[in-house]
Amino acid sequence: MIRLEDIHKTYVVDKVGNHVLRGVSLAVAEGEFVALMGASGSGKSTLLNIIGALDQDYTGRAQIAGQEVKGLSDRALSRFRNRTVAYIFQQFHLLPHLSVLENVVMPSWFARSGEAGDDKALAAKATAVLDKVGLRHKVRARPGHLSGGEKQRVAIARALFNQPKLLLCDEPTGALDSDTTLKVFELIERLNAEEGLTVLVVTHERDIAERCRRIVRIVDGAVVPDPGPMTATATAGAGDA
Ligand SMILES: Nc1ncnc2c1ncn2[C@@H]1O[C@H](COP(=O)(O)OP(=O)(O)OP(=O)(O)O)[C@@H](O)[C@H]1O
Ligand SMILES: [Mg+2]
Repeated sequence: MIRLEDIHKTYVVDKVGNHVLRGVSLAVAEGEFVALMGASGSGKSTLLNIIGALDQDYTGRAQIAGQEVKGLSDRALSRFRNRTVAYIFQQFHLLPHLSVLENVVMPSWFARSGEAGDDKALAAKATAVLDKVGLRHKVRARPGHLSGGEKQRVAIARALFNQPKLLLCDEPTGALDSDTTLKVFELIERLNAEEGLTVLVVTHERDIAERCRRIVRIVDGAVVPDPGPMTATATAGAGDA
């Protein structure tokens, strides 16, 4: 699902270069659940942005879901961003003036320009996804009236709406208390187990990372030697790149 080879990334600010990623290589098989750890500033978010095709300014090869992201046309790139990968962040990034349901549907209004799909069908689909995350009863609520865990579950529902293959989570429980953290994490685990979603989750929390079947660490801009996908975790269709 993810194949990175010798990724280098340098940020240049005021003509000063910061060589953040220094030869990252990593392979993640379809259906894996991987924790990404590393000190603050080690480049975890930077790496996620490259995997999610939000950043194309790097050297090395990044193949995601069988596609060399750098070579994609604009059209293929937006399809990739809308359908192949989904993001969850520490801050939930919900739109406060829209209902829960509208927050889930919104990205698809943009993604589907020109495609069939009437509003009723989209609303029904959003309701089904919200049901999956346990929020069917909140479809009409505004984000401001939800708890942190509920907000993150809305963000997860929004991420799932287009049935992505890969879920990238950047400290998804960083803003939540420990009880809520566990519940949100269990939800992500269930999506991995039941829907075969490949999950890469950045976390600082050791007990959360230890629930993942594999922990990958970034040290000095590179992934410390990692055995690659463990055979024991080889679930549905594992082995593709
Ligand atoms: N847009 C940017 N422009 C310039 N430098 C950046 C940019 N984004 C990140 N950096 C720098 O790159 C380095 C890695 O940042 P990154 O956000 O990837 O770290 P991180 O591992 O996600 O850290 P944290 O755990 O604190 O979120 C840091 O030194 C940071 O200052
Ligand atoms: Mg970060």
